[in-house]
Amino acid sequence: MITLPGLIDPHAHLREPGATHKEDWDSGTTAALAGGFTQVLAMPNTQPPVTDGDTLALALTAARYKARCDYAQYLGAGPHNMDELAPLADRSAGLKIYLDQTYGELRLNDMGLCLAHFARWPRHMPIVAHAEGRSLAAVILLSALYDRPLHLAHVSRREEILLIRAARQRGMKVTCEVTPHHLFLTQNDLSSGRGEVRPRLATAADRDALWGKLEVIDCFATDHAPHTLAEKDGPNPPPGFPGLETALPLFLTAVSEGRLTMDDLIRRMATNPRRIFNLPEQAETWIEVLPDESWEIRAENTLTRCAWTPFEGWQVRGRLRRVVLRGSEVFRQGQILAPMGTGKNIREGRVENRE
Ligand code: DOR
Ligand code: ZN
Repeated sequence: MITLPGLIDPHAHLREPGATHKEDWDSGTTAALAGGFTQVLAMPNTQPPVTDGDTLALALTAARYKARCDYAQYLGAGPHNMDELAPLADRSAGLKIYLDQTYGELRLNDMGLCLAHFARWPRHMPIVAHAEGRSLAAVILLSALYDRPLHLAHVSRREEILLIRAARQRGMKVTCEVTPHHLFLTQNDLSSGRGEVRPRLATAADRDALWGKLEVIDCFATDHAPHTLAEKDGPNPPPGFPGLETALPLFLTAVSEGRLTMDDLIRRMATNPRRIFNLPEQAETWIEVLPDESWEIRAENTLTRCAWTPFEGWQVRGRLRRVVLRGSEVFRQGQILAPMGTGKNIREGRVENRE
């Protein structure tokens, strides 16, 4: 048995408000604990999207009553809300800017609007961009022009990881995350509906380039994006995969195969996200893992409401046994022990750390 720090997922879609048939703050944070995550940062593309004080209050009220692990909620950049967001920044996980196609309506098509968000958003709070290909290059330019840190979500292609490496070599303050699905799957692995995800699954050459540039990858983020099986297999399959309960076993398997060290895993799933997103240490918090236990991933054994996984039938090595959160046992051998409301809002009552 080995002990690791509580994991941090800087990128999860928990679907509340608005789509609680896919997931809510209860089922999403249950899945988080079952995956070894003790802190999750929730994305703002809910219904309605979290883009002002009222919608932030809506999400945080649901979270306060239901969350079983610690959390913070992102604010979404819209075409008209740059002035409104700045005063809310300290209560959020950070600002999320969508520059490419995603699920839901949140998207900025105009770099002028993006510039206005960079100019107004407080310097001490994180900015995360969903930017692919050329929009990735454009948003890196904005971060250089404003000389402020930028975190790039779910990098999926060779050209992108090369661009980020080049920016970093020139001293730019860019960090990035990669998802398990872009590291373990390619465009040939799933049927067309189930395989829908943004960014799209890429080629084997792209996947191999990500593994080859592991030193450029700061975080592993799940981009847990639950949609029901009926929706995925229906006429308009929405993009997104669940990921909270499969990330740790997939990466532990990579450790057992020598593709990753345990230290690489801890840095990308705990230490780096804590630093990049300025998250507090969680006292008396850890997870226990059985590194040699082999098992098969099966959706029927998962706790996410969406009830499917793109990794169905995968043989993995390494199993989560126990999670202790702030001194209390919250997960043991498949059972969630934390009641709803156990989770704390990471940004509530925090000591501000302004630049
Ligand atoms: O595949 C995706 N699903 N990509 C996104 O950017 C959003 C996410 C979702 O919310 O379903
Ligand atoms: Zn996402």
